[in-house]
Amino acid sequence: MEKLNIAIDGPAAAGKSTVARLVAKQLGFIYVDTGAMYRAVTWKALQSGISPERKEDLVQLASALRIELLPGEASQQVLLNGEDVTDFIRSVAVNQNVSAVAAIPEIRRLLVAKQQEMAKAKGVVMDGRDIGTHVMPDAELKIFLTASVKERAERRFLEMKAKHENVSLEQLEKEIAERDRMDEQREASPLVKAADAVLVDTSGMSIPQVADRILELAKSAEGKGIR
Ligand code: DC
Repeated sequence: MEKLNIAIDGPAAAGKSTVARLVAKQLGFIYVDTGAMYRAVTWKALQSGISPERKEDLVQLASALRIELLPGEASQQVLLNGEDVTDFIRSVAVNQNVSAVAAIPEIRRLLVAKQQEMAKAKGVVMDGRDIGTHVMPDAELKIFLTASVKERAERRFLEMKAKHENVSLEQLEKEIAERDRMDEQREASPLVKAADAVLVDTSGMSIPQVADRILELAKSAEGKGIR
C-alpha cells in the first residue's frame, strides 16, 4: 500500500492501541502510541517527586527527557533516557495523574513536535486524543474510535484481571468517566472528533472486526489519492 498517515483518536480504553498496532502491522506501517509519551513524562515526574501542579518544573523535566518508542511483541516498548519503562507507565499512579500532566500546554507542545517529526516520512498509524485535530491535521485517514463507558470499563477489567491486578469494575467505570471528563474539558487540545474523522463505535465489535473496518477505510482513502 502507498504510504499514508492514519490518525486514530478516541477516549480511554476504546481499544485504540490494540487496533492501531494491528492495522500498522498489516500495512507494514509504524505504530506510534502518543499516550505512552504523556505517560512516560508522568511516570518520571512521580519518580522525581514533582506533582502535576508544579508546571514549570514539569516542563523543565519533560524538555530534558529522551523518549523512544520501539516496536515490541505484545506492545510498544517505551524507553526513557534509555531505561525500559514499558510496564511502569501503566501503573495506577500514572493512570491517576496523566490527564493533569497532559493538560499542560507546554508539555503538549514538546510532545506534539516529537510526534510530528515521527509522522514526516508517512506510513504511520498514530493513536491519541488530538492526532486528527492537531498532530496530523493532513492525515489521509482519520478515525474516531469509541465505545460506551460500561463496555470500556469491562474490557479494562478483563485486561487487569488477566494481569492479576486487583481493581473493581465500579472503580474502573468511575476512573474512565473521570478521564473522559478531564480529556474532553481541558483547554489545551481537548478530546474532540475531527470534522473529517470517521466515527467507529466499537461496542459489540471484536478487535479483528474493528481492524478490518479501518483497513477497508484505508484502502478507500488510498484509492482517493494522497491529499
Ligand atoms: O491513551 P492513554 O490512556 O495511554 O493516554 C494517557 C493520557 O494521555 C490520557 O489522559 C489522555 C492523554 N493523551 C493526550 O492528551 N493526548 C494524546 N495524544 C494522547 C494521550
